[in-house]
Amino acid sequence: MGVPCHVGIIMDGNGRWAKKRLLPRLAGHRAGMQRMLALVEHAFLCGIKNITVFALSCENLSRPQSELDGLFDLFREYFSTQMENLAQKGIRLRVIGDRALIPSDIADLIGAGEARTAAGDKATLAIAIGYGGRQDIVAACNRAVREQREMTVESFSETLSTGGMPALDLLIRTGDEKRISNFLLFEAAYAELIFSAKMFPDFTDQDFDEALKDYSARDRRFGRIRRQSD
Ligand code: IPE
Ligand code: IPE
Ligand code: MG
Repeated sequence: MGVPCHVGIIMDGNGRWAKKRLLPRLAGHRAGMQRMLALVEHAFLCGIKNITVFALSCENLSRPQSELDGLFDLFREYFSTQMENLAQKGIRLRVIGDRALIPSDIADLIGAGEARTAAGDKATLAIAIGYGGRQDIVAACNRAVREQREMTVESFSETLSTGGMPALDLLIRTGDEKRISNFLLFEAAYAELIFSAKMFPDFTDQDFDEALKDYSARDRRFGRIRRQSD
């Protein structure tokens, strides 16, 4: 089995990474953002065409305002400095999640970033911000009801905020927790799951390579007795 078409990463453990170093939680988020920049670049070089990273869940919006303000500042920094780099590399940016939940100036920066990178046809980077898998499914159901459309699995997939991206092949979660925390619930139906004990800022490119190796050794049967290709 070759490289996965679509990899999701739950970037967990920034706060504990900082705590261990007696640093404020926000220092962990900054280190996490820096790691994300390099890791995503590495993953694209490995030939992965679709990456979705979990940056902020709907549930995270219940965190103290001071932490959210720091995260929002990091998002502002990211979306105002990285778009040219993505565009140059032919990477299309998509941000999934409810934009009404985040400050409007960030929503504007995201809109500009998506427009700037819209022609990217080498790979897609989706960033989940203010995102919840259940919320996304319910929003898609409501859309279908409004439009009086009966759904198939395929058409429903297209109605989700990840519509147009392939189903998730590999889901990596760092931070030593073994749960999905409302990430890509529908999309992950047949994803291979890899849980790393490392906190996200410590998760190296080599760790990612090992996850790919682990993935490629797995026997994905999709309910069959043998692999589809066998
Ligand atoms: C993940 O790191 C980033 C976000 C959820 C925004 P955490 O902030 O959850 O880090 P821990 O789990 O407290 O270590
Ligand atoms: C999941 O991490 C969300 C992100 C990484 C953005 P959390 O730290 O919010 O997950 P729980 O609360 O431990 O399940
Ligand atoms: Mg966490």
